[in-house]
Amino acid sequence: MFKPTASNGAAKPELYRDVTASLGGLLEGETDPLANLANASALLAGSLHGINWCGFYLLRGEELVLGPFQGKPACVRIGLGKGVCGTAAARRETVVVADVLAFPGHIACDAASRSEIVVPILVDGALAGVLDVDAPEKDRFDEEDRAGLEAFVAALTPRIRWEKL
Ligand code: SME
Repeated sequence: MFKPTASNGAAKPELYRDVTASLGGLLEGETDPLANLANASALLAGSLHGINWCGFYLLRGEELVLGPFQGKPACVRIGLGKGVCGTAAARRETVVVADVLAFPGHIACDAASRSEIVVPILVDGALAGVLDVDAPEKDRFDEEDRAGLEAFVAALTPRIRWEKL
């Protein structure tokens, strides 16, 4: 079972630079999109401190469906506009929630989650899914996390054959 990682003490921008650089090596030479998303979620889970869930929801028709992730079992289907994931997907912009209990419509998968960040994944302007990261502490995610995770998604997106998922 996924265990939160302790901070290695690195400043967040540096940490995200390292994680995003590691992603390149991790996915190098592999074209299977499911394997690559699985490894991307494991890389994040092993690198970010103080999180209890991270992974992908993929657009299937008009809803998001659970993809590769690390953490407790999660709800499988989320409608566009629903919860934090569906809101980020519908707006096509990152949503940072300092306290999920104060977010109307938040979908509780792991009762331990208190804050959350969701980054939409856009391929040539079209929604492919979202990256969702949850934390057991309130206010875990700030502007540095937003910038770092958006950079991670930007590096990931061209390396995944989304049409093959
Ligand atoms: N909390 C999310 C649902 C997904 S889980 O956190 C893994 C939401 O409100 O969309």
